[in-house]
Amino acid sequence: MARILDPTADSIAQAAAAIRAGRTVVLPTETVYGLGADATDDRAVAAIFAAKERPRFNPLIVHVPDAAAAQRHVQWTSLAEKLAAAFWPGPLTLVLQRRPDCRLSLLVSAGLDTAAIRVPRHPLAQSLLRAADRPIAAPSANRSGSISPTRPEHVVQSLGDAVDIVLDGGPCLIGLESTVIDARREVPVVLRPGGITREDIVRIAGAVQDGGMGGPKHSPGMLESHYAPSLPLRLNATEVNELEGLIAFGPMPLQGAGLTINLSFTGNLAEAAAGLFATMRTLDRPGLERIAVMPIPDTGLGEAINDRLKRAAAAR
Ligand code: TXA
Ligand code: MG
Repeated sequence: MARILDPTADSIAQAAAAIRAGRTVVLPTETVYGLGADATDDRAVAAIFAAKERPRFNPLIVHVPDAAAAQRHVQWTSLAEKLAAAFWPGPLTLVLQRRPDCRLSLLVSAGLDTAAIRVPRHPLAQSLLRAADRPIAAPSANRSGSISPTRPEHVVQSLGDAVDIVLDGGPCLIGLESTVIDARREVPVVLRPGGITREDIVRIAGAVQDGGMGGPKHSPGMLESHYAPSLPLRLNATEVNELEGLIAFGPMPLQGAGLTINLSFTGNLAEAAAGLFATMRTLDRPGLERIAVMPIPDTGLGEAINDRLKRAAAAR
């Protein structure tokens, strides 16, 4: 059974030792909790796929402490340099060509010749990366296809028996996964919307292209249904009934739901993103038949919020 450890010098040392010994550790990041293992160790990486029951064709994100460490694994580009300077550490993942001398396990790339790299901002993730002195492969710490964890107790609910150490970094500040960008060419290609907005990317790079639905060669994970609660989910609700749980947004929540959680009374998208996954979990309960969601604007972080909601709604 999983042990949730408070962040102390001792628990960080224990977690680092576990990583170096080829075991998995659950670590907090500012986006979601990750199920981490030494990205250079095939058996350790295979254990991540097994614990999550994740299809082997879906590659993993590798976490490193800084951009210099990233450049030891992948071929750097001028676009990567610009984006890393602007957004690392933070919720941005760059997909780049593996270097010929790349020591990352081939399993993290799931057969592609690229690797996805991210420098997380969360201080505990930073401490663990430095103490372990290994690149850490870490997908979200949930069973494949279910809702990503933004608190330690979500990890235990989802992966309880399959994980040993969970480092407690509190609730994740951003609450949505990183934005995944293919940064191999001049124009960034968005493979997954996330914690860095399209507007932010355009401000730094001048333009973006959409690549999320470009097929399995680009970002295999984008093809799956994901983020699914067990109740069906209904989007853009304009009325609601007592058998439904309501995900509300803004100052005028619909009336009449069995249970309502407002993501943000003031219509703040960052606040809504931070609470989204925990809210989906809370409303996914017996006694309710469906989850209804009020419309959420598609600008800024709204794009990633709506992406996750659409996937959750499509899952059945
Ligand atoms: O915020 C996050 O990104 C979290 C935290 C833990 O860092 N991690 C995360 O990992 O969301 P995961 O495995 O749930 O999602 C990784 C996404 C998937 O959509 C996957 O297909 C894509 O990144 N990906 C990974 N490597 C790739 C590659 N080489 N080429 C294209 N897409 C890749
Ligand atoms: Mg995931």
